[in-house]
This record gives sequence, C-alpha cells and structure tokens, in this order.
Amino acid sequence: MIPAIGTSHAKTILLGEHAVVYGEPAIAIPVPTIRLRAELTPRSDERQVVTSAFYNGRLEDASSTRFAGVATLIRQLLVAFDAKTTGFDLNIISDLPPERGMGSSAATAVAIVRAFYRAFGADLPHDVLLRWADVSERVIHGNPSGIDAATTSAERPQWLIRGNEPQNLAMPHAGVLVIGDTGVQGQTKAAVGAVAKRYAVDVLARDQIISLGRLTRRGAVALAENNLLELGKCMSAAQSNLAALGVSTTQIDKLVRAAMQAGALGAKLTGSGMGGCVIAIAPTAEIAEQVADAMSSAGAIQVWQHEFA
Ligand code: MEV
Repeated sequence: MIPAIGTSHAKTILLGEHAVVYGEPAIAIPVPTIRLRAELTPRSDERQVVTSAFYNGRLEDASSTRFAGVATLIRQLLVAFDAKTTGFDLNIISDLPPERGMGSSAATAVAIVRAFYRAFGADLPHDVLLRWADVSERVIHGNPSGIDAATTSAERPQWLIRGNEPQNLAMPHAGVLVIGDTGVQGQTKAAVGAVAKRYAVDVLARDQIISLGRLTRRGAVALAENNLLELGKCMSAAQSNLAALGVSTTQIDKLVRAAMQAGALGAKLTGSGMGGCVIAIAPTAEIAEQVADAMSSAGAIQVWQHEFA
C-alpha cells in the first residue's frame, strides 16, 4: 500500500427518485463544487483507524455504528487486495451534509474505493467502482438503485434505469440549480421501505410511480431542448407525486412554496425525502439569489447555488 487519495462529490436527483427503484428512469446531476475526499495513509503497525465527521475509531469497532456499511466495504476491499492485516489511517473530509439526499454515503464509498485502488496500484473500471459502492449502499439503504453512486462519481448528468449502465446527459446551457437544506436528516432506508409498503398494496401508489417515470422522460426531452420552463413544470409535478407517496414533509413543502413564490420555475424534494434537501430551478442568477434568500427565510439552514452553464 502507498499513500493515496480518492475523491467524489455531491449529487442531486432532478427527477425520478423512488420510481427508479421500480425500474422507471431517473435523472441526477453531479454537484462537483460540494466535494468529498478520502486520504489513505499506510501505518507501520497493523491498526486500521478511521477519522471522519460521523465515525472516529478503529475499523474493527465500527460494526454497529453509522459507519457499518462503509466498514463492510473496506473489509471486503482489504480481502480483495490480500491486505486484511495492513495498517492504515483513513481520513474522510467532506463538504456534503450527511443524510440530506445529496449522496453522502455513496460519495464516501466512491472516494474510498478510488483511494484503495490507487493505494494498491490497480486500475478501476467505472462498472467495477459502481459494484463496489453497491456493497455499502446495500447495508445502508437496503435496496439501492445505484443512482447515487453513479452520480457522485460522474462529471455529467446521469440517466439511469436500474440494472443498466448509466448514460451521460447534457447539462442545460443556462439556469441555476438552487439547493436548500431543511436541516432535517433524510431517512433513505425508512423512506424506501415506506414507499415499498404502499407500492405492495395500493394501486394509487403504483400510478404515482408510473407518473414519476413519465415526468422523468418528459424532463429528459426538456433538458435536451434546454427548455427550463418545461423542466421546472416536470419537477413541480414530480413533487406532487412524491408528496402523494408520503415522502414530503411540512418543512420540504415550506421550502418548495418559498422557492416558487420567489420565481423558481420548479421545485421539489431531492433524494429519499422525509427530510433532506429541496432543489429549485431558477432561470437567471438574479432570480437564483431571490430563491436562495426565500429558502433561507423559510428555514433552510444552508443554501447552495449551482450554475448549469
Ligand atoms: C436516494 O437518493 C434515491 C432513492 O430513489 C433510492 C435509490 O434510488 O436507491 C430514494
């Protein structure tokens, strides 16, 4: 093992969260300005020590903590590289708020896999990276579609249908994505589980999922045509479907309303919901400022702006 660094970044799901678990398409946008970095440094003893915002301690003590999924991933990487007893310090430095629908757990997995492959001098094809990220995502989320890992490791917007290779899409030529953090932790496993329960017994829930898939296809055409007005309409309609599926909250609804009143073309939750972040599309930098201010006044604890161009 040699010292190595792996990086990744945040993601937001533009359209299709939850529906993507059921085979419908989703579109997600990488946010490269919100970064995560995993630094791997060999030690002269056999200790394996992690430092991060959500876990500090030895790898062997991480099993019943929030780090359990990532710890499972690291253990399997060490087996794959025949390095079960190799000592290291792993330092994870992240700008991503955890559990806010911005892909923090997938971004952590992606950066760690990249760091390990570099540390052992191995090539890392993209499909292999995504398969590794799935190891921890399964422990953390239960039934991940793969959209989070695909987008936290990508440069371009991603079109994903479960079980297929993610496809690159074009970024819009104009407009600003405004992201507002409700300050409430999202609950991916609980939200995915709650939707699954409804989906199993409620025909109306299935209709919402199908409608979300349709909106994602419409959104992809709007993206290709640079039609932000139409994209915004798709996002707002998707928010209604997601609310009907039970994954919106009063705080999310408040930020969505504030964004729309300030001139956003569309706004919705992003990721699993039940907390987490709201995204809105603004046509110009000036309106994006107004949307960001409105979200802050409505209670967002942090707001980011990401220019598409
Ligand atoms: C979580 O960011 C997105 C969900 O669709 C779950 C998944 O796709 O794995 C809610």
